[in-house]
Amino acid sequence: MRTPFMAGNWKMYKTPAETTAFFEKFVPLVSSAQGREIVINAPFVNLPAAAAATTGTNVGIGGQNLFWEKEGAYTGEISGPMLKAVGCNYVVIGHSERRQYFGETDATVLRRTIAALEAELTPIVCVGELLEERESGKTADVLETQFTGGIAGLSPEQFAKIVIAYEPVWAIGTGKTATPEIAGDAHNTIRGLVAAKYGSDAAGAVRILYGGSVKPGNIKELMAVEDIDGGLVGGASLEAESFAAIVNF
Ligand code: PGA
Repeated sequence: MRTPFMAGNWKMYKTPAETTAFFEKFVPLVSSAQGREIVINAPFVNLPAAAAATTGTNVGIGGQNLFWEKEGAYTGEISGPMLKAVGCNYVVIGHSERRQYFGETDATVLRRTIAALEAELTPIVCVGELLEERESGKTADVLETQFTGGIAGLSPEQFAKIVIAYEPVWAIGTGKTATPEIAGDAHNTIRGLVAAKYGSDAAGAVRILYGGSVKPGNIKELMAVEDIDGGLVGGASLEAESFAAIVNF
């Protein structure tokens, strides 16, 4: 049994005061949610406010990236131990916006994932194809390349601690959700890659989230798909009511 996992990804939105206001509304709306893992991945500067508002609740917090060194002369970077020290238990790695705008590659995804695990953070590792890759029938190849270069370098013990997010890039922030069928196919492909590399027990245990225009109105049909274990939610995680509706689908 895989516990449904609902993660908000705030991207570059909200101030610390807005963070506090969000959790004041959100925490009571999900406090009675049973059998759910709930996380908000907030901008770094909001993490202390998020930690203060969620300590002792069923809501976890995470960063949206980390650097693989623990400390050093790396201006502008944040390390795994720093995220842990401020109260995070999670971190998003390899989001398509980081791949697109900040030079993230499969190799750096692997380095960051290992660093997250060393800091005892649960990495939420993102994969997904571009529109032109889907239209030219390359989705499965792209997922295989991203998996092989970015995840398959983990040991079985390391792999057992990660969460995967499938986010088709054409569905992110566009209002175009993948149909449950399209998402289910991709999740099945990813689970097959996991089975081939780590065995069927690992494939049965790993949570694979869907991300890309998840909303209160489509979460139920997505979660009805056998291989979809949760959501990585951008826009709809910014309002307490809408993200709570997704958590409580
Ligand atoms: P969206 O973003 O829900 O706004 O499409 C998802 C994501 O990028 O994680």
